[in-house]
Order: sequence, then C-alpha cells, then structure tokens
Amino acid sequence: MTQHLQSTTVLKNGVKMPWFGIGVFKVEEGPELIHAVKFAMKHGYRSIDTASIYGNEEGVGEGIRKGLVEAGITREELFVTSKVWNADLGYEATLAAYEASLQRLGLDYLDLYLIHWPVEGKYKDAWRALETLYKDGKVKAIGVSNFQVHHLEDLMKDAEIKPMINQVEYHPYLTQKEVQSFCQKHGIQLEAWSPLMQGQLLDHPVITAIAQKYNKSSAQIILRWDLQNGVVTIPKSTKEHRIVENANIFDFELTTEDMTAIDELNRNHRVGPDPDHIDF
Ligand SMILES: NC(=O)c1ccc[n+]([C@@H]2O[C@H](COP(=O)([O-])OP(=O)(O)OC[C@H]3O[C@@H](n4cnc5c(N)ncnc54)[C@H](OP(=O)(O)O)[C@@H]3O)[C@@H](O)[C@H]2O)c1
Repeated sequence: MTQHLQSTTVLKNGVKMPWFGIGVFKVEEGPELIHAVKFAMKHGYRSIDTASIYGNEEGVGEGIRKGLVEAGITREELFVTSKVWNADLGYEATLAAYEASLQRLGLDYLDLYLIHWPVEGKYKDAWRALETLYKDGKVKAIGVSNFQVHHLEDLMKDAEIKPMINQVEYHPYLTQKEVQSFCQKHGIQLEAWSPLMQGQLLDHPVITAIAQKYNKSSAQIILRWDLQNGVVTIPKSTKEHRIVENANIFDFELTTEDMTAIDELNRNHRVGPDPDHIDF
C-alpha cells in the first residue's frame, strides 16, 4: 500500500505512477501557478496533472523546470500528465495537439496523455493517435478521462492497446462503484479528479467527525480514503500550507468502519459535467 508521498502504483504496462499528485485546473498562467508547481515538487510531490484546455501548460512547464532544480531531481523522477481537448479529437489533430502540449510545457515527453472527454464519434480516432504516440515511444502511458463503462467497452472493442488510466470525477458524493469495478477487472487504474469536490465537502459532519478522531483535516481524511480505495488522487491547491497539508496523509490509516461511513455518503452527485450529456 501507499507508504509515502512518492509511492507508486504500477500501470498495466509496468510504468510507475505516483498515487498522489497536484492538479492545476483553473489556475491561470503566472507566478501563483509557477510557485505552486515548484513548491509542490520541492515538498516531495512527483506528479502534476494539467490539460491543454486549462491554458496553463507554459506556466506548468516553467514551474517544472524550476522545481527540478530546487528539488534536485531529474525529469525522469517526475510524472507529468496532460490531456487532449475535444476540439483536437481526430487522428492527425490529436498527434498535432500532443506536440503542441509538449512545446508549451517545454518537455520532450509526457508520462501520461489522456483523452479528456468521451466525445461520441471522435474518441476512437483520437485513441489511434495515442496508440501511435505510445508505440513510437513518445509517451510513457496513455489513457482516458471521464469514460463511463459503455465508453470503455466501445473503445476497447477496437483498441490495440487498452487504456492504462481512467481519470474521473470521484469523491464521497460520487463513488463510481460501477466504473471502478470495471476498471479493476480490466487492469485500468482509476484516478480521481475533484477529489475534494472542489472544497464543498469539507464541512460535512460525517467527515469532520472522522477528522477529529484522527486529528486530521477533512481534506486529509478524504484524500486518505481515495488511497485506501486504490484510487490515484490529484487535489488542487495553490496555497503552500494546503499543498503541505494535502500530502500529509501517509502516517495514519482509516478503519474499515470509517471507510464504509465515507463510502455511504455517496449520492451520485456531480460537480462537473455528466459524461453522457456533454455539449462541448
Ligand atoms: N479530467 C477532468 O475532466 C478533470 C476535471 C476537473 C479537474 N481535473 C483535475 O483534477 C484536479 C483536482 O480537481 P479540482 O481542482 O477540480 O478540485 P479539488 O482538488 O477537489 O478542489 C480544489 C479546491 O479545494 C481547495 N482546497 C484544496 N486543498 C484544500 C484544503 N486542504 N483545505 C481546504 N480547501 C482546499 C482549493 O483551493 P486553494 O487552491 O485556494 O487551496 C480549490 O478551491 C484539477 O486541478 C485537475 O488537474 C480533471
């Protein structure tokens, strides 16, 4: 199990991916972003999640370059994820989008490249592009995001290489049991986005009561629950004290009862779009 901040899960192709990382959704280009990435790396984070649609890959790249120096680590010790946006889903368009992301990030490879949303009629061509990138050794691992079971089944019918990751909205109000058991069965690692439900679950009485018991914060309880459920997690914060706090979850373990109590909060509630009804 997860021993420390740099512990990894092994993806089905043997690539190691940290269980824990930082997300940068809604963080604009500029000093706050660069500082957050650099600070997280210096603090021991080894995984960074961005996307072309976030419009911040240049700042993420700058944060990474500075972070590598300050943390005294090599590029190979870091795990960087980006995602192809819906407008670029197509064989040639996705290949070009990958190169454009690399250029903005100032990197010569990504550790993980994801199809951001399962746009009907488009994701299979994009997947062929990801397979090409993977086979050409340009990316270490490939996967999808926001795929429901039926999207995965459809994709895998024709895929030569199966997705290694599915990154989905996942938090105590949306426990995704069906998606998780399908992914488990097929060796696809599940990854949580908006693990903190964008900060909206931190005052929930069940969570605050558990937090008090362990002398931890609500955020720490939820993030620990992710890990104990076998889900990779990438909470976003640009505040130093929260970047530290969120990562401080490797010195305690939730009991089965507390895990169940959090599981039972599920109400299939989304803060983000429903992948079956996207209009973007
Ligand atoms: N694949 C997708 O479609 C998709 C969609 C959404 C997100 N994502 C990825 O998942 C990452 C995480 O999701 P998210 O950013 O939507 O939401 P989140 O991580 O659930 O929550 C982030 C919010 O919680 C606050 N926060 C963080 N740590 C806290 C703490 N310890 N105490 C109190 N508040 C805290 C942050 O504010 P401060 O920054 O002010 O601390 C921010 O407002 C994203 O950044 C992105 O990389 C992917």
